[in-house]
Amino acid sequence: MDLRETLAALKSEAMSALESAGGAELDALRVKYLGKKGEITAILKQMGGLPAAERPVIGQLANEVRAELEKSIEERARELSEKALEMRLRAEAVDVTIPGSAPKIGKKHPMYSVLDQVKDVFIGMGFEILEDREVELAEYNFTRLNVEEGHPAREWSDTFYFTEDASILLRTQTSPMQIHAMETHKPPIRILAPGRVYRKDEVDATHSPMFHQIEGMAIDKGITMADLKGTLDAVVKQLYGEESVTRFRPHHFPFTEPSCEVDIQCHKCHGRGCPTCKDEGWIELLGAGMIHPKVLASCGIDPEVYSGWAFGMGLERMAMGHYKISDLRLIFENDVRFLEQF
Ligand code: DAH
Repeated sequence: MDLRETLAALKSEAMSALESAGGAELDALRVKYLGKKGEITAILKQMGGLPAAERPVIGQLANEVRAELEKSIEERARELSEKALEMRLRAEAVDVTIPGSAPKIGKKHPMYSVLDQVKDVFIGMGFEILEDREVELAEYNFTRLNVEEGHPAREWSDTFYFTEDASILLRTQTSPMQIHAMETHKPPIRILAPGRVYRKDEVDATHSPMFHQIEGMAIDKGITMADLKGTLDAVVKQLYGEESVTRFRPHHFPFTEPSCEVDIQCHKCHGRGCPTCKDEGWIELLGAGMIHPKVLASCGIDPEVYSGWAFGMGLERMAMGHYKISDLRLIFENDVRFLEQF
């Protein structure tokens, strides 16, 4: 066969092989036809036997065939990679018109909503929020709050102690925060200290061995019971509305003198008595009073110069009143069906 015909046959054979070649075959074809030991090279090697005048003609022809094959292989390679990309895009396509599955978003716990409202009101009046330890010294939880050893509140049956000598305990109230604040701040002091407290109570609809209190305290020159009444009255009005009514009843706490308990008139029956207020017309909100001079003095604050008020309120009870929750246990069980209602 004439070399021309050989080249033409090689070209058409290569072209038809290319048409159906896949990615891996493409490389093999490149080697087969264009490689150093490939078929075109083999043809060029045979040119020695040609008449001199034929050589450049065949040489040029061979180069043309080589160039065409190179171009076709390149084109085929591009075609294959475009096809592969298209298939991948199709496989990975996201249909943005399909409705998504909405993620379940949690909500703030009703008790913490109430706490945030209380914090906001006090922050608005210039109070600083303090949070601190729940494991406390009996000295801070009791002694320095004027609750002497032997006082019934210090009974082993009421308090979770850590040590045989009853010197370390889970705080039974947030009132030790008063002592911490007086130790770390100089008057004038205005603090609000929310947190967990612990008592040996059996769980029922109104009791839990762990619950939350919010302690408040203000110390400055010339602070009187009128400031306590005015402040708490303003707080209650901001929380429960302008028409809310408060009542201050005399009471006894070892760390305040005088002491009182503060009730809010039942918002449901306006004092007439109903199931919400257990027919009393009033709902107990907190304990409060003027800080005992002994307590101030034990923290190095001169009771002849400074005076102050303090209060402590139960957060769960507030939340229960706020959201008409009938059972304390619901607040801690964290049943989603319950929490979703708020
Ligand atoms: N700590 C008291 C309790 O747990 C509540 C209390 C009463 C706090 C009077 C005070 C206060 O700061 O002045 O029952």
